Amino acid sequence: MKKLVVLASGGGSNLQSIIDAVNRGEINARISAVIADRAGAFALERAKSAGIAAVLVNRRDKNEFPDKNAFNRKMAAEINEHAPDLIVLAGYLSILPPEIVSNYKNRIINIHPSLIPKFCGMGFYGSKVHEAVLAAGETESGATVHYVDEGVDTGGIILQRSVPVKNGDTVETLAARVLEIEHEIIVEAVKKLCL
Ligand code: GRF
Repeated sequence: MKKLVVLASGGGSNLQSIIDAVNRGEINARISAVIADRAGAFALERAKSAGIAAVLVNRRDKNEFPDKNAFNRKMAAEINEHAPDLIVLAGYLSILPPEIVSNYKNRIINIHPSLIPKFCGMGFYGSKVHEAVLAAGETESGATVHYVDEGVDTGGIILQRSVPVKNGDTVETLAARVLEIEHEIIVEAVKKLCL
């Protein structure tokens, strides 16, 4: 059975999709820990409710992490402690420590709320993605699961699924439509990689 570590920064609805799929036996894996980089990330509450180790590595705690290297060292130590087969970035908004990217090559995946290579890279996250899609007048958008490499949203694509952009869409309505697809393809991708 594969061992997963899931990294999150926010609400954790993608994490919840994975938890639910594991619990119904759809994914042949167990989640060893959920690690969040922000205090108050509801993803940590979801982990606790599911009986999964919930770890906070608070990037804003300047006492514990006076600089980025200190944060990266702690984040790497927490991940390595679980020795995961697969690391899943599920709404995770910090850049991974370079040593993690190199030590877990082709074993880190990310969910991005656009059809990569469109609307991705530095500055394209969360609602900023959907704002750009609407501003560009796109007729479709979607979500992508890809491997994480040294770049930002540049690793090999594993799975993509599109949704229509509808007349009158707002950032909120488009985000909600894309999020539904994110929940589908993140589960399908993890399932596939844990066969
Ligand atoms: C999603 O759009 C995800 O792609 C982005 O953050 C949003 C919320 O994700 N990174 P989650 O509910 O925290 O999984």
